[in-house]
Amino acid sequence: MTQLLYIETFGCQMNERDSEIMAQLLGEQAYHRTEHPEEADVVVVNTCSIRGKAAHKAYSCFGRYRKIKEKNPNLILAVTGCVAQQDGAALLERMPYIDIVMGPQAIYALPSLVAAARREKKPQVATDLSAEFVIPPFLPNLAEGPAHKRFITIMQGCDNFCTYCVVPYTRGREISRSFSEIIAEATHLVRQGVKEITLIGQNVNSYGKKGATRQSRGFPELLRAVAGIDGLERLRFTTSHPKDLSEELMRCFVEIPSLCPHFHLPVQSGSNPILNRMNRRYTIEDYLAKVAKLREYRPDIALTTDIIVGFPGETDNDFAATMQVLETVRYHGSYSFKYSDRPNAKAADFSDKIAEEVKTERLARLQARQEEIALELKQAEIGKTVEVMVEGASKAPANQWSGRTGTNQIVNFSCAARLVPGQLHMVEIESACQNSLRGKMI
Ligand code: 5AD
Ligand code: SF4
Repeated sequence: MTQLLYIETFGCQMNERDSEIMAQLLGEQAYHRTEHPEEADVVVVNTCSIRGKAAHKAYSCFGRYRKIKEKNPNLILAVTGCVAQQDGAALLERMPYIDIVMGPQAIYALPSLVAAARREKKPQVATDLSAEFVIPPFLPNLAEGPAHKRFITIMQGCDNFCTYCVVPYTRGREISRSFSEIIAEATHLVRQGVKEITLIGQNVNSYGKKGATRQSRGFPELLRAVAGIDGLERLRFTTSHPKDLSEELMRCFVEIPSLCPHFHLPVQSGSNPILNRMNRRYTIEDYLAKVAKLREYRPDIALTTDIIVGFPGETDNDFAATMQVLETVRYHGSYSFKYSDRPNAKAADFSDKIAEEVKTERLARLQARQEEIALELKQAEIGKTVEVMVEGASKAPANQWSGRTGTNQIVNFSCAARLVPGQLHMVEIESACQNSLRGKMI
């Protein structure tokens, strides 16, 4: 009998991909997706705990599912992702109506956990994190997620232990997936018509290098192999750690035509004492030298970054150094956050915490300047002709389409013909606003 599945996903692309995998696994057991949790037989909440705010969002949504479960006691409520991993069985003490608590390594066991929860009528907890874990072979179907562009998880976990970060504790040790299975998954996707692939992992630059899941070939070789699949138009990846960015990887931006000229390179801070206390293992001079080199190889590359303001001990001078990085690099975009304490992360024990008002003020100043720079960079595109991959139609008005440049900027344009997501078209940029460009198709 067909059953209904509702999934709510918070957080990063790793989580988005994990949700697709879970939907496919339950789909194979005749579960169909629904947009209405009230009618679902299984609800999966895929949580994020990267920052205090993210974890708070997850906790506050559980109340809604409690009410639904009161009306429908047969509902199986599964909580996964980083909050589930972090809190484990303790989550059940606070929220006894949850049926399954499972960490990111347990997602492949979801169907059997659902069956066990039904059969045994008691909560199931699967939060073991093993450094020996092997990501199982998995061939995606296209029923889940967009048809023209897909993520492929190439590794899980992180060994870097930045002092603010919870990831090494929620996603465990760095584990690389088998080279040949990644190629098999990519080939399978491209054969089904996928035009753009993004390889994802917490620290893709160190793909294949460590531990039990060491691979004989590293990340640049993986990029070359995926790019070699006939029919793939665009290749992207995220996220990179600046300390591991090699010249060999930079060269890929010249040698691999389908590798898009966009690099997300989290800087976190512009001040050396703060970078040191964050355990980032590079200086701002190292970082800027790599940016300069990357631009020598690929002058048109768009850079984006992550920045934390108000890390413990951050002085006005430290913050001024971060503001200076915005001027030096001129990022196309930045994700910036106020520092928040995370469980187990070392910085939670640092004594010199920054007042909330100071963090708020610094974040506002940083974001305001970054927005100006991003707009200036968009305005500099006016008059240029760029290649755009069609994403889809705008909701209104009619004949309006939206797509992305290789640099990952959104471009809106009009076209009376019916376009297909994944098609490439040349568009002349006519105007720019804060979040997108506008142009005409030629
Ligand atoms: N507080 C604030 N921001 C954080 N990030 C990670 N941990 C924290 C924290 N404790 C940010 C970093 C990272 C991004 C994904 O989230 O900038 O790159
Ligand atoms: Fe966290 Fe640092 Fe690993 Fe990124 S590299 S996931 S910030 S520990």
